[in-house]
Amino acid sequence: MNGNSQNGILILIAILVFGYVEPAYQIFTSWLQDKTTTSNEKYWIIVKIIIASCLFYNLNNYAKRRSGISWEKVSQDDIVLITGGSNGLGSELVVELAKVNIDQIIILDKVKPKLSIDKVKYIECDLSNEDDTKSVVQNLIHELNSQGKHISILINNAGIRHNQSLLNLDDVNIRKIFNVNTFSPILILRTVIKNHIAYNEDKRLYIVSISSILGVLAPKNLSIYSASKAAIYSIHESLSEELIEYPEIRLLLVTPGQLSTEMFQDVAPSMTWLAPIVSPNWLAKKIISKINMGEIGVLSEPFYANFLPAVRATPFIVQRLCRYFSGMDTKIIDQ
Ligand SMILES: *[C@@H]1O[C@H](CO)[C@@H](O)[C@H](O)[C@H]1NC(C)=O
Ligand SMILES: *[C@@H]1O[C@H](CO)[C@@H](O)[C@H](O)[C@H]1NC(C)=O
Repeated sequence: MNGNSQNGILILIAILVFGYVEPAYQIFTSWLQDKTTTSNEKYWIIVKIIIASCLFYNLNNYAKRRSGISWEKVSQDDIVLITGGSNGLGSELVVELAKVNIDQIIILDKVKPKLSIDKVKYIECDLSNEDDTKSVVQNLIHELNSQGKHISILINNAGIRHNQSLLNLDDVNIRKIFNVNTFSPILILRTVIKNHIAYNEDKRLYIVSISSILGVLAPKNLSIYSASKAAIYSIHESLSEELIEYPEIRLLLVTPGQLSTEMFQDVAPSMTWLAPIVSPNWLAKKIISKINMGEIGVLSEPFYANFLPAVRATPFIVQRLCRYFSGMDTKIIDQ
């Protein structure tokens, strides 16, 4: 479907929706004109609704910050471990974190970072290889333990994708994608958290897991990537509860939409008025502000991404329409 007919149909839908919204608007205006309640009472009802909304907003933020248990900003004592820090969102996070007064940033990646920054230490690691990942992470933790130091910020960011339909993917590639996107984060999480609880229980550990909105709604020909990101979503949910008794260990899940990084460069964006491309630098700054506040939960960007899980709860035909109009299933060309 070309852009024009797509726009035409969107306008049609907007007119239909407005047909329903307009009566609601009329109910509101007739309530305003209603003579049985005085305008003073109406004024107070509106004020109460505004106050209740503000209270709810603040209460929600209070809960996300572990009910006010104190938390310090990123500082000289912090050591960051980030996977896939050489490119894309990972390298933006490294650059932004390096601007802060921080002890060290350790990158695990297969490729070398392009920039050489003072506080940044690069360790070559093939995250698709379990044995390599295991030995690199264990050596690193051993070395830090012996210096009386510990990882205080862990960012599981590395990810790879594919272009093929499920039937055209080969076994080796499927395993490789799951190894990098799912099994290596699990291995790193388990190793770092177990060591933290054993030796540094009273110190802080902030964990960021980079998932994707595609883990919530999987497009055609991207099944394995989407499944590997959905797994990260579930692990975050369950692990957050498992660790709830440790207020010093906090977990953030990030589910970004399309980023302007190399990874999805070949995928033409659509409906950018609703789903704008996310700047990796902007997202990196947002993630760092969450680390500074010690905020837990899910960070979904752009705004519409917050509502994607709700699409799955709609009737079948509505889901079909959402998929059709978003064009999400026409983007990944099998190579
Ligand atoms: C997918 O195909 C595009 C277009 O040919 C290419 O640029 C990209 O590198 C491919 N990605 C992967 C992971 O194979
Ligand atoms: C998805 O994969 C199938 C099977 O290889 C291919 O025919 C199709 O062109 C691919 N892309 C889309 C957008 O359907």
